[in-house]
Amino acid sequence: MISIAIDGPSGAGKSTISRRAAEMFGFIYVDTGAIYRTIGLASKTHGVSLDDKAAVIAMLPELKIDLKYNAAGEQHMYLDGKDVSRDIRLPEVSMLASKVSAIPEVRAFLVDMQRDMAKRYDVIMDGRDIGTVILPDADLKIFLTADVSDRAHRRYEELCAKGIEKPFEEVLAEMKQRDEQDTARAAAPLKAADDAVMLDTSGNTLEESIAEVCRLIADKTGRKIGERP
Ligand code: DC
Repeated sequence: MISIAIDGPSGAGKSTISRRAAEMFGFIYVDTGAIYRTIGLASKTHGVSLDDKAAVIAMLPELKIDLKYNAAGEQHMYLDGKDVSRDIRLPEVSMLASKVSAIPEVRAFLVDMQRDMAKRYDVIMDGRDIGTVILPDADLKIFLTADVSDRAHRRYEELCAKGIEKPFEEVLAEMKQRDEQDTARAAAPLKAADDAVMLDTSGNTLEESIAEVCRLIADKTGRKIGERP
């Protein structure tokens, strides 16, 4: 099985680039942020305060979290049997996800789910600790980054496209706060693996970044775009 780890801060383009590259190579795209988002959402629906870590940890064994793919290869997240793929994209859930992801027991709870995917399929998996913790033996590790203002602009445009109104200054402030939380936490902080290829997408078009990632994948794995093993 081939595994490609793509890590980096929010808004660096990881999910769009990973999804498109996975389509081109016929790999499964695993969005691990969606799994943390599902736990963040669960804490809300279960009425558990994120300041009460013991309560968050006690909630974990009660949760039924499933990750499924539809015929188009899109990942859907299910919480207690309900498809929550749209709900987890709400901005308030981004902050909840960032907070729950700092709890070591939450991270430990999700390790096997993520590794199992890489055992069963050729994957492009994106997140914060994929190259450092989840798949330390990945065939290729890429650390994608971009200036914080570039990332906030992209996120702002994504929200506008979804009809979610939020002033740009707020999007930027939240992006900085999440960067700080994700980088400063003790448990598996956002950090490039020593053997990761660093890719700064500031000023790149999306197509340029996708082409660069696909070139790296092709070079490292010997697979060709459109080739199905
Ligand atoms: O990639 P995202 O924005 O959907 O991720 C939501 C939050 O989950 C993010 O603030 C950090 C956390 N996360 C993590 O800690 N580890 C991962 N592998 C993926 C996401």
